[in-house]
Amino acid sequence: MQDVVAVILAAGKGTRMKSNLPKVMHKVGGKYLVQHVLDAVSSAGVSKRVLVIGHGAELVRESLNNGYRYVLQKEQLGTGHAVLQAEAVIEQAEQTVMVVCGDMPLLSSDSLSRLIERHRQTRAGATVLTAYLGNPTGYGRIVRDEHGRLLRIVEEKDASPEEKKINEVNTGTYCFDRELLFSALKDLRPNNAQGEYYLTDVLTILLNKNIEVEVMDEAEELEALGINSRQQLAAVEQLLRQRTLDRLMTEGVTIIDPQSTFIDDTVQIASDTVIYPFTFIEGQTKIGHECQLGPMSRIVDSVLGNAVRVQNSVILESRVGDDCNIGPFAYLRPETRLERGVKVGDFVELKKSWVGEGSKIPHLSYVGDATVGPGVNIGCGTITCNYDGIHKHPTVIEEGAFIGSNSNLVAPVKIGAYAITGAGSTITKDVPEYSLAVERSQQKIIPNWNRKRSK
Ligand code: UD1
Ligand code: MG
Repeated sequence: MQDVVAVILAAGKGTRMKSNLPKVMHKVGGKYLVQHVLDAVSSAGVSKRVLVIGHGAELVRESLNNGYRYVLQKEQLGTGHAVLQAEAVIEQAEQTVMVVCGDMPLLSSDSLSRLIERHRQTRAGATVLTAYLGNPTGYGRIVRDEHGRLLRIVEEKDASPEEKKINEVNTGTYCFDRELLFSALKDLRPNNAQGEYYLTDVLTILLNKNIEVEVMDEAEELEALGINSRQQLAAVEQLLRQRTLDRLMTEGVTIIDPQSTFIDDTVQIASDTVIYPFTFIEGQTKIGHECQLGPMSRIVDSVLGNAVRVQNSVILESRVGDDCNIGPFAYLRPETRLERGVKVGDFVELKKSWVGEGSKIPHLSYVGDATVGPGVNIGCGTITCNYDGIHKHPTVIEEGAFIGSNSNLVAPVKIGAYAITGAGSTITKDVPEYSLAVERSQQKIIPNWNRKRSK
């Protein structure tokens, strides 16, 4: 669709959000509001996208991917004024300009495709997408004549009591002929209750010139939902969450209690995995078959294999192999990588470490900046002392080593294959393979020391 360009309006402050963030940078379903709109536009086959930014312009630009054209609207003088700012970056070949508001995360790509299709078929000068709402309060109303033809769009603040009863509303989504749009925008006047340049008045200007304006009254009620408040943000969050859970259940995932399960739409989970209550799975996470996750776990930007068990644990930016068993109360920090069949037990923290197949770190340990070979057993209370106050240092534990309980491994240090450290040792020197390293004072025995005292 090389002749279509989308203009996404995202310059507004969102006064009713009472926020330092520009409105479109609030997240819902794990994604910025405006990203939902950008994605819907691109799924509708429109890859050329112009963003009109103003409030928090730098933040918006930094937070989104490249590949968009940006224009700055320095002062927010209304939706018509916003679209006019885009004129300079729209090319001659782009005959159709689609306009979409950046605060409508539920708008579907299907409606956008059909809008373009309709606009092309009818060869209208403009086509507007409308919806019928149970409660139209706050939206621009579609005023039609006795034959059902569009007369104008009237904003809530300018509407008469009669007009306020109209339940057909403007979704703020349109297709325009480029030349007609920009010439009409120059004729806009801010003579309305808000003193703004309303994009909606472009339609009246075109109608007055006897140019055809088409109304496509086919948006679903929910699609029309623009986010203006935190209440609406929470309502959409709940809705998107339900949609994601529905999708996962359709794909064969068991979710014990959808009310208390929070999964981003970006997450992929294979069939026969079971999610227990109070579990959060976020970001770019991918999970295999037959896992059991939760209760009370959080998994972010991680990849888990098949048959992984996670209880009451937090996993961030990590990779976990098949058949691993994690928790309760484990904390996997970024760049942790577990091979198949690793056990990470209670109160164990791992950071930037690789752990080989079948190794066990069952209780009360900190393992950071470490490379742990396969078949290693790390005793309770072991700590890699990886930080000297200035630099971080690596620890290497080779295949089959046995680290005694409460060992301190002062990095940089290497424990050779099948070596053993005695419980309670503070290991500061490398241990050769198959050896035993004990570093603690000899136990003294003072006979009968407590005999008198206990009498
Ligand atoms: C607008 C429509 C209304 C429609 C509703 C649908 C107008 C005059 N009204 O009203 O008919 O029912 O959307 O949600 O168009 N923006 C800018 N620059 C500005 C003003 C707004 O970029 O100067 C952006 C906002 O960031 C937002 C979008 O345009 O993303 C819509 O603005 P908003 O103030 O929410 O318009 P509504 O009052 O909702
Ligand atoms: Mg709005």
